[in-house]
Amino acid sequence: LRTLTLFFFLAAATRAQDIPALPPLMPMPAHIAMGQGLLKIDASFRVKLTGYTDQRLRRGVSRMLVTLTRRTGILFTSEPTPSAETAALVISCDHADKPLQLNEDESYRFDVTPSAIYLKAAQPVGALHGLETFLQLVAPGPDGFDVPAVSIEDKPRFAWRGLMLDSARHFMPIENVERTLDGMAAVKFNVFHWHLSDNQGFRVESRVFPRLQTVGSGGQFYTQAQVRSIVAYAADRGIRVIPEFDIPGHTTAMLVAYPSLATDPPPVEIDHLFGVFDPAIDPTKPGVYLFLDKFIGEMAQLFPDTYFHIGGDEFNGKVWRESLRVQQFKQAHGFLPTVADPDGNTALHAYFNTRLEAILRKHGKRMEGWDEILAPGLPKDIVIQSWRGQKSLSDAVHRGYQGILSFGWYLDLIQSAQDHYLVDPLDKDAAALTPDEQTRILGGEAAMWTEWVTPETIDSRIWPRAAAIAERLWSPKEIHDVRDMYRRMEAVSRDLEFIGLRHRSWQTLMLQRLAGTGDIENLRTFAEMLEPVKNYDREEFGPATTITPLIHLVDAVPPESQAARNFAADVQAAISSDAQARDRARTQLLSWQRGIDGLPTLLEHNALVSGIEPLRNHARELNRVAIDALDALQSGKKLDKKWRAHSLEVLKASGTTYDALSICTQQSIGLLIDAVSS
Ligand code: ACM
Repeated sequence: LRTLTLFFFLAAATRAQDIPALPPLMPMPAHIAMGQGLLKIDASFRVKLTGYTDQRLRRGVSRMLVTLTRRTGILFTSEPTPSAETAALVISCDHADKPLQLNEDESYRFDVTPSAIYLKAAQPVGALHGLETFLQLVAPGPDGFDVPAVSIEDKPRFAWRGLMLDSARHFMPIENVERTLDGMAAVKFNVFHWHLSDNQGFRVESRVFPRLQTVGSGGQFYTQAQVRSIVAYAADRGIRVIPEFDIPGHTTAMLVAYPSLATDPPPVEIDHLFGVFDPAIDPTKPGVYLFLDKFIGEMAQLFPDTYFHIGGDEFNGKVWRESLRVQQFKQAHGFLPTVADPDGNTALHAYFNTRLEAILRKHGKRMEGWDEILAPGLPKDIVIQSWRGQKSLSDAVHRGYQGILSFGWYLDLIQSAQDHYLVDPLDKDAAALTPDEQTRILGGEAAMWTEWVTPETIDSRIWPRAAAIAERLWSPKEIHDVRDMYRRMEAVSRDLEFIGLRHRSWQTLMLQRLAGTGDIENLRTFAEMLEPVKNYDREEFGPATTITPLIHLVDAVPPESQAARNFAADVQAAISSDAQARDRARTQLLSWQRGIDGLPTLLEHNALVSGIEPLRNHARELNRVAIDALDALQSGKKLDKKWRAHSLEVLKASGTTYDALSICTQQSIGLLIDAVSS
């Protein structure tokens, strides 16, 4: 029996190319040992439930069988079978789940032999995770499909593994939310943080305060029935739903609906632009707390999770500073200026949060908020979500609070999967905490803010990069080989499309619309050399509003180019004398050149893409430089000063961005230039 333990895998991880490839699981299990042989998946495949079972687990098995049918083309009966003899997958749970909550036992054990599969879990939520692992293991084989013999013992490193979706800046229809939850379940996320109100819209039906949606949503909101169905849909997949209603800032939509809650002057119109705006709730008005009590009471019924997010971020304090009423209130309550709090707003915000927390507690909820809410005096069982830096996380837990990390995991910043993958909640400032303090770091959340995405493009901004964050939150810290992560993420990314996500197929549709033709191969090939500008640099290319069409080439290009990443690896290897890598890099450059050369007809006839003409010219020049350099590497000749000067000029020019796009091969080609002309 060849046993490949995780320990062996890690010991070998320094030389990624030598790792006997483990199956493309993501997140990688805590312990995995490969066995000998395969279990064949054919039409006789059946599932049997033993031990404790419930409807949710049955539905989970049915979903798994439907997915398996779609993948294999074998029609499985979509129900677990009662008879033991024919079952290839035997699932057993020791006991029932409690209603879904923080710190569930999510562990499972998964054993495949050539004759049977055993999935054991303490409770159904662990078995659901095991079913996702199973789906990732099924692979095409010479006579159908099979699963490799393997022993897996798995449980998450962190209890809180979330994805935040902003449904306020751009409203996300129910279909988007559901498929996001499907993707989350596939990579074992367990918290859906739903940002439901902001300056641009209030997105949930309130029966108690209906103007919130009739006036505050522009007609785009979720009915209570839809919310209930999403909460149930998520629970079926082992995912808790935590609503966020952001106060006291980020409240234009709420305050347009109920101006009496506002600090004077109340806003008169919902915002369509993005940014931090002045309107805020007035914390001095007794009516505000009556409103919040009723409103939270209503929402507490709709969202069963214990935690309730009240935002608290990016409040600029202007209206509080300028209101006479607020100034008098500060005087009366002793919220006087200090060096650390020159206008007394921090003290007043803490007062507001303390009263808010009491209301939440009355309705059975624990408060969660962005790291700005951290102030002395709040009960220690609240959760602080760190977004302004990892230090706020360690500060929070050092002071006795619980915390989760989002800094480093903002998907809207368009960073690489690698950047997100190498962030760890227990690194940086947290590394100096005591083990006891570290246990209060519950995990983290990827954050998808939606200023620059629409329902059409959002999948491509969440996936597959969020899977890298899911792995960081689930798998042992020691699993951090970037190259192996990309190998597995590629497989998971394909699987996600098969279950309904559109982060890959979206591109074809968008390119065809841009091009006005089905003949998009040259454009697609050229687009592999491009990436959207990072961080929030896109704002420099013109302001967006909630109704700005996001249908440009930048919207059709993924956050990172896989072809460019492969090219970069080949260039590195070519510089270290790998002839095969050098040939691959040249083949890639020639392919890009063909795409570029084939573009003029398209550009001449199409105003939507004609703006990329300068990029095309830079890319063409840059590729010529790169081909020169590869030739020089091959012949072992150094190129002269004149070539170097010209090449560096080309390199510099190709760093200019157009239409919020930049050429992403620039850095590797810079290395090539240095390698042949230094
Ligand atoms: C935030 O990004 N304002 C929490």
